[in-house]
Amino acid sequence: MIPWDKIFETKIPLIDNQHKRFLLKANLFYVKCKVNTSFQECEEDLSYLEKLLLSHFSEEEALQKELEYPQFHHHQASHDRLRSITREVGSHLRASSFSNESLQEFYHCVETFVKDHLVYDDMKFARYYQEKTKIGSS
Ligand SMILES: [Fe+2]
Ligand SMILES: [Fe+2]
Repeated sequence: MIPWDKIFETKIPLIDNQHKRFLLKANLFYVKCKVNTSFQECEEDLSYLEKLLLSHFSEEEALQKELEYPQFHHHQASHDRLRSITREVGSHLRASSFSNESLQEFYHCVETFVKDHLVYDDMKFARYYQEKTKIGSS
């Protein structure tokens, strides 16, 4: 389990809600599929998780575009890498019927997503967002 931490907070309500929701559901999925949950149920939860993550990336990118974030392309490239990792991990999980090994891989990917992308890339955008909206509102 990867608990939510204050250091993950971007102070952008839409983004924080999506990050929290994703992390919560990812933890639940991991714990649930570790014990003997049916393939069908793991598959449904995984599809839901994938949808959550992909729509989060799209919405975050839309917000960055709207605010003319100078590092948009860099951030998008990082999302692209995560999109392909998501596809890869998803196919390993399904092909191995959610084996412990593939669940371990999934866990490490979520950890990397949170500790690398969220803490560095999203936080960089969060600082820009705070500056931009501060200037915009004064
Ligand atoms: Fe991001
Ligand atoms: Fe994000």
